[in-house]
Amino acid sequence: MNYTFSNTSNRIVRSEIRELLKWSRKPGIISFGGGLPDPSLFPIRDITDITAEVLSERGFLALQYGPTSGEPEMLDALAGYMKEFGDEASLEQMCVTSSSQQGLSLLSLLFIEPGEPVIMELPSYLGAIQAFRRCGADMRGVPLDDDGMDIEHLKKVLDELDKEGKKPRFIYVIPDFQNPSGITMSLERRKELVKIAQKREIPIVEDSPYRELSFTGDVQPSIWTVAAGKGVIMLKTFSKVLFPGMRMGWLVADPFLIDKIVMLKQSVDLCTPSFTQLILASFIKQGKMKETIHNAIECYRPKREAMLNSLEEHMPRQISWSKPTGGMFLWVTLPEGMDSKETFMTAIEHKVAYVVGKPFHCDNSGSSTLRLNYSFASVEQIKEGVKQLAAALKKHL
Ligand SMILES: Cc1ncc(COP(=O)(O)O)c(C=O)c1O
Repeated sequence: MNYTFSNTSNRIVRSEIRELLKWSRKPGIISFGGGLPDPSLFPIRDITDITAEVLSERGFLALQYGPTSGEPEMLDALAGYMKEFGDEASLEQMCVTSSSQQGLSLLSLLFIEPGEPVIMELPSYLGAIQAFRRCGADMRGVPLDDDGMDIEHLKKVLDELDKEGKKPRFIYVIPDFQNPSGITMSLERRKELVKIAQKREIPIVEDSPYRELSFTGDVQPSIWTVAAGKGVIMLKTFSKVLFPGMRMGWLVADPFLIDKIVMLKQSVDLCTPSFTQLILASFIKQGKMKETIHNAIECYRPKREAMLNSLEEHMPRQISWSKPTGGMFLWVTLPEGMDSKETFMTAIEHKVAYVVGKPFHCDNSGSSTLRLNYSFASVEQIKEGVKQLAAALKKHL
């Protein structure tokens, strides 16, 4: 059979990272690769009990189709959950999604046309780059510094687009403990970003999976809250604070946009499983999220300490790294001219794996960067892994 594929499918390229991650799954390799939560945190006992309860008491609802925007019980629980972190949203401003990747996919379908620009951070989340690329977006990158997106550079990019007669469909940011860099956007920058975006009537997409995982207790107000909801679409997920296996997330936006997103979602999956929604709604309503997030923070804080201390101890001085105060990732910059793809196989020989930085850059830059994850490996593995990584990188200096 000679298949003729759509332009959309032809825009999808095989992820270089996926190929490299295969190495990290080989026995004996310490992996700083993926973005996996520590499975020892999964509240299996609670979920088992709640699942039995949901099935016996509301099985008729749990196993049925549900509303596309989400089970009312779930939306209510989500509004309460957001409130605990300082964010207000009405039920009409929310739509449950099958995790944030679906949210990114729906927003791409809603806003992007081939050749139309979107603005994003340099580096940014690979799954977002893939979703935007699939729709043919013209991705324009804005570099990060220690305070998040460089606003002066953003202005330059906007001026360039003005000259080309183009307006970005949205500005995509991950303001808290960013994936991949670990950087958090300062409050000042959040305000500046909102001001610029509102003045130019450009929507901001705020992707916020890591905000709850703060090791210092300091949490910036969300961009959603800074903007009082005006022109901001926020993506939330339980993948990082709880577990990714249930694929549960939600999207917060103006009701007018939610209505359009719900229509799109109908064509994608009709609804997110009612079963998982009711289980998680019960989990939240029983007050178990607080404990789960507390446990995650207590688990990841010493891992981050171990990684930072080991980097300090072993890395040659030409190599620098970010110092995240939350989340799961740390960003390493090698000396210019050194390619993290070339050093990867040496690292594998030293039985340690990381993720190369280039695919996180929508403009193909970043070949001398790499991402380290510290949520999955144990403290002991982190110490040994960083020592081995330093030895491997030294061979290339
Ligand atoms: C910034 C960001 N957004 C979205 C996602 C997707 O998460 P999920 O689809 O599991 O909710 C991830 C996962 O790593 C992420 O880091």
